Amino acid sequence: MDNFNFYSPTEFVFGRGRENETGKYVVKFGGSKVLLHFGGSSAQKSGLLGRVEESFKAAGVSYVKLGGVMPNPRDTLVYEGIKLCKEENVDFIVAVGGGSVIDSAKAIAAGVCYEGDFWDFYCGKARIQAALPVATVLTIAAAGSEGSGDSVITKVEGGLKRGAGSDFLRPRFSIMNPELTCTLPAYQTACGATDIMAHVFERYFTNTTEVEITDRLCEAVLMTMVKETPRVIADPDNYEARANIMWAGTVAHNGIVGVGRSQDWNSHGLEHELSALYDCAHGAGLAVIMPSWMEYVYKHNPMRFAQMATRVFGCPMNFENPEETARKGINEFRKFLVSIGMPINFEQLGAKEEDIPKLVDTFGIGDGKTGGFMSLGKDDVTAIYKIAVNASVKLNP
Ligand code: NZQ
Ligand code: ZN
Repeated sequence: MDNFNFYSPTEFVFGRGRENETGKYVVKFGGSKVLLHFGGSSAQKSGLLGRVEESFKAAGVSYVKLGGVMPNPRDTLVYEGIKLCKEENVDFIVAVGGGSVIDSAKAIAAGVCYEGDFWDFYCGKARIQAALPVATVLTIAAAGSEGSGDSVITKVEGGLKRGAGSDFLRPRFSIMNPELTCTLPAYQTACGATDIMAHVFERYFTNTTEVEITDRLCEAVLMTMVKETPRVIADPDNYEARANIMWAGTVAHNGIVGVGRSQDWNSHGLEHELSALYDCAHGAGLAVIMPSWMEYVYKHNPMRFAQMATRVFGCPMNFENPEETARKGINEFRKFLVSIGMPINFEQLGAKEEDIPKLVDTFGIGDGKTGGFMSLGKDDVTAIYKIAVNASVKLNP
């Protein structure tokens, strides 16, 4: 196991009705003037926004509102938010929504405390040194942004989707009421589930040996997702299954299952190019990319993939041919994705083979290599996108 620091300062406030306590927690964490940030229409329609506003009034917290965050959140609204926060002397940001709203809130929080252009943090020109405190009321189990120090924003000009990370962005508190996710369309629930599993896989496929504790934690989250996702798709109001998925989403991405081991975030990088170009859901893009990446890299360490196949998907171990077991596990993952309604190839996602050179170009490694479980150059990245073009579930993997 490698040396590590684990820092997850967020207070998670979990369970039915907890959104009614939002104002109380803002006061606890020192906020007095809040930017209430939200997305399209779901939080208004469900009455959630109104309940959060009532909680502010009850706690004596004043607030201004900025809605309209779109999935794959844009820089344009971030600039608007920064301006509004400065004009209104906002000292605390509450994001009501999913990863997109939370990431937009984090970008605003960092931008308010910075003299330059907030995009500097996302293009690697500057590091975040301060941010307004952020909190969340989570409405979808997916990105894990409610417990992470990351934010991913799309720059409209040039269509670049990039991430920034800092402990300053970790939410002070996150309200997590699984009931709030019952209004999600099945497709969005499945996209979230795929993202949660991908966050675990990016940590699971490691070159670090002797990491039994985090291997087992990863497997527990993955097995939970395999069990609970079909349950909520069949029965959207199943509170217990929703609750297990919601907590799995946080555990998958607040860092705890990835400590002390090398990680590989190439599938996420490859996916971000897809959602930047086609504006598809992040989870759907991952359903296409992640198994294709697995298919390309499994020979780097077939036993690690065979471990996933046997422990998570229950495949029998073929000791004479571990590569076959590895391939079966990848195939089982694809089967699972199809069963929950996810796309698994370019056509199903609405992506085009002729765009591959463009995707590779904006991925931006030039003639260099990425790090990770297996380093990838331009040709490797091209090959993975090509596998994704016609990917399918196989009868004899
Ligand atoms: O805008 P509204 O009307 O709220 O609709 C949203 C949106 O259309 C809807 N929705 C959310 N909660 C709902 C609901 N509809 C009905 N009932 C509810 N309770 O769902 C749609 C998707 O929302 P979004 O916030 O985009 O989903 P998600 O949480 O998957 O976030 C995706 C974004 O997070 C980034 C992704 O790249 C993508 O931009 N990520 C952020 C990470 C982080 N900050 O740590 C890590 C991830 O790997 C990821 O990259
Ligand atoms: Zn993700």
